[in-house]
Amino acid sequence: MKVTVVGTGYVGLVTGTCLAEIGHQVICVDNNTEKIDKLHKGIIPIYEPGLEDLVRRNTEQNRLFFSIDLPRSINESEIIFIAVGTPSKPNGEADLSYVENVAYEIAKAAKDPKIVVEKSTVPVETGNRLYEILHTQNGHKVKFDVVSNPEFLREGTAVSDFMRPDRIVIGTESESSREKMKRLYDPLKAPIIFTDISSAELIKHASNSFLALKISYANALANICEKTGANIDDVVYGMSLDKRIGPHFLKAGIGYGGSCFPKDVDAFVRIAAAKGISFGLLEEVQSINELQRTNFVEKIQKKFGSLEGKTIAVLGLAFKPDTDDLRSAPALDIIAGLQKAGAKIRVFDPVAMDNANQKLSNVEFTVNEFDCMKGADAVAIMTEWPQFRGLDWKQAKTILKKPILFDGRNLFSLEQMKKIGFEYISVGRKPV
Ligand code: UDX
Ligand code: UDX
Repeated sequence: MKVTVVGTGYVGLVTGTCLAEIGHQVICVDNNTEKIDKLHKGIIPIYEPGLEDLVRRNTEQNRLFFSIDLPRSINESEIIFIAVGTPSKPNGEADLSYVENVAYEIAKAAKDPKIVVEKSTVPVETGNRLYEILHTQNGHKVKFDVVSNPEFLREGTAVSDFMRPDRIVIGTESESSREKMKRLYDPLKAPIIFTDISSAELIKHASNSFLALKISYANALANICEKTGANIDDVVYGMSLDKRIGPHFLKAGIGYGGSCFPKDVDAFVRIAAAKGISFGLLEEVQSINELQRTNFVEKIQKKFGSLEGKTIAVLGLAFKPDTDDLRSAPALDIIAGLQKAGAKIRVFDPVAMDNANQKLSNVEFTVNEFDCMKGADAVAIMTEWPQFRGLDWKQAKTILKKPILFDGRNLFSLEQMKKIGFEYISVGRKPV
């Protein structure tokens, strides 16, 4: 089938490439010419393991194309995915201007019937808004259907999340669109849930907010563990063996970041508020998450009394491993807090240094972990990159002023660090 995907960000590029991989003819269009130029040269503008090979293979086999010409790309396919950004407005609501702008373009340009698919995460009832735009701006009086098909892609595992989804959610009122979307995803042989548009839109916000809730619950438990000498690893393990609870998304640390959880939880609180419902539970999820960052700064401050003139080596900047994405990364707030307390900061991240150069100021960028730790008063881990686990920490001890490690992602066991001889302060566990 022929598909046009509008927006070649983390979501749009993965969606378009994987749809080509399962045999469809796909055009990925973006209004950022630099991105499209790079893609024409086989340069992938984002870091996503496995994506580069897929883009190359599908471009070579003439299933995947890139364009900046939106009107033309719209008229090449019947199914049009909208995968442009839905960032937060200053008041926390989702900014739908990009999504609506694309809907206008589709309405004006389409010369034959289109199925317009909401791939971007949008507040419930956005589908009605898109219908309205498509039908009032209908340049050539064609038939439009709107479908909600939310994405559940995690950065760093987005390709496998697309190719082996737990479920595909399709929200539509039209039987023919339902059939076509079923055909589109058939090659994945994955469970498909068909429902109405609003329910499909809600499933996304409800799922992401629940995952964020699990994380904040684990972090609230971690804070109680720290006050009672308990160990969060054991508490969570003890909980997780209950099949109704499970082990996932209960890892305590400096909290969640990324382009989705903070934005989606914020948007969901406001969607509820707009309907006169106060979603206090999610507001508490947000405040626990913010508190984890300040708690971590306070831990470091408490250790040194004053941070004036102290140098802290920060290992890891990305909001999680296997991505270069710094959007709402806890490291950014924690570094700002440490700088405010007078600390000098040196940073290293295996992948996110280019993005960091644009987002961080008054820090020293280093070339590797040992360059970062050289002569520092302490080291602080913000992202659990596997390579940090494998470092020669015995050697690291010799280049730090003092062997003090603050671990924001509980990368190590207490025994490991005790054996190596570090003073080791982590989250939800006793300092050793
Ligand atoms: C974003 C949201 O973060 C996510 O929650 C939502 O589910 C999908 O959109 P992401 O892919 O990370 O995900 O967005 P981003 O990386 O900002 O990419 C959006 C792309 O759309 C950019 O490349 C931008 O240039 C492009 N765009 C934006 C257009 O092509 N046209 C527009 O009008 C606006
Ligand atoms: C998330 C959802 O998982 C995905 O389904 C949705 O489509 C987009 O948003 P993503 O934001 O890419 O994906 O990353 P995810 O792996 O969910 O982690 C989000 C944040 O939570 C990261 O900062 C991570 O460090 C943190 N996290 C995750 C925890 O602090 N503890 C955990 O147990 C799990």
